[in-house]
Amino acid sequence: MSLEEQKDNKGNIRTYQGREYDITDPKYAGLSKNALKKLLRDEIWEENRAQRTKDKREKLKQRKRERRQMEDAGLLEPLPKKPKSKNMTVGKVGVVFDCAFSSLMIDKEISSLRQQIARSYSANVRAKNESMKMTLTSVDDVLTKELDAKAPTWKNWRNIEVTSEPYIEKFNKENLVYLTADSENVAHELEEGKTYILGAIVDKNRYKNLCKNKADEQGIKTARLPIGDYIRLASRKVLTVNQVMEIMIKWLDCHNWEEAFMDVIPGRKLKDSELINQHKEDAEDEEKESNDEAEENKNNE
Ligand SMILES: C[S@@+](CC[C@H](N)C(=O)[O-])C[C@H]1O[C@@H](n2cnc3c(N)ncnc32)[C@H](O)[C@@H]1O
Repeated sequence: MSLEEQKDNKGNIRTYQGREYDITDPKYAGLSKNALKKLLRDEIWEENRAQRTKDKREKLKQRKRERRQMEDAGLLEPLPKKPKSKNMTVGKVGVVFDCAFSSLMIDKEISSLRQQIARSYSANVRAKNESMKMTLTSVDDVLTKELDAKAPTWKNWRNIEVTSEPYIEKFNKENLVYLTADSENVAHELEEGKTYILGAIVDKNRYKNLCKNKADEQGIKTARLPIGDYIRLASRKVLTVNQVMEIMIKWLDCHNWEEAFMDVIPGRKLKDSELINQHKEDAEDEEKESNDEAEENKNNE
C-alpha cells in the first residue's frame, strides 16, 4: 500500500501495511516518502520479531516431529549427528537388549518395542562423546519380521550386533549386570568393562520381577537406576527401555544422574515429582530462617 492511498485516513493517524502511526510523531518529521516507508517497515519488522521467532520454533518442531515419525516408521534412516556412526567412538561400557520376551507381548507392544529399539539405536549413534557397545540378543522371528516390515533400514545399522543367541552364551556372567527397577541394589555408576542388560519388553507393568527373577536364576547381578536418590516420582519408577538407554548415554557423557534423569524422564512423569536435593535445600533454608528468627527474638528480649 502506498502512502498516498492512506491520506484519506482521519486526523493524524495513518496506516501503513495495516499498522497505525501518528504522522505528527517527531521521529517521522522531515522524512521523505521513501525514508518514511523504510522507517515504518523497519519498525514493523522489529515489532514482529517475537512472533517470527515463535513461528520459526514451531516450524522447526513440526519438522522434527515429522522426521521422527518417518524414522519410527522405518521410512528414513535416523540422522546421525556428531559423531557419524561410522566414526563413532565406542566406549568400554556395553549394553545388551534381552529380546527374549516376544511371547509375552501383544502386537501393539511389539510395535512399541520396535520403536523403542530404533530410538535407543539412534540415541547411541548420536552420543556426544562415546557410544556403548550395543548388542541385541535372543532376537526371534517375531521381532525380525516387525523390524523388517516397519524399520527396513535396520539392516544397515552400524556398530550393533544382532543375534538369536541368548546373552548368557555370549558373555562372561561376571561382567553382566541386569538392570531392573525391581532390584534391591542400586547402580551408582556405570563401570567400564561391564555390560548392562535391559529387558526388551513393553509390558505396562504386567510382569513385575520378570527380569529380576530371570537374572537371579542365572546368577547374574542386578541393579536399579538410582532414581529415588534424586527424584521423588509420583508414579512407579519403571521406565521404558529407550528411556533407560538414553539415561545411560547421558550419564556416560556428564557423570551426573540428576542431570541425566531430568534430561530424559518425560515431563508428564516428572509432573508431580520433587527433586530430593531441592527439597533438602528448602528444608535447610527453612531451618536457617527459623534459627535466625529465634536469635532475633532472643536479642530483642
Ligand atoms: C518396561 S521395563 C520392563 C519391566 C519388566 N516388568 C521387568 O521385569 O523389568 C523395560 C526395561 O527397562 C529397564 N528399566 C526400567 N526401569 C528401570 C529402573 N528404574 N532401573 C533399572 N532398569 C530399569 C529394565 O531393564 C527393564 O527390564
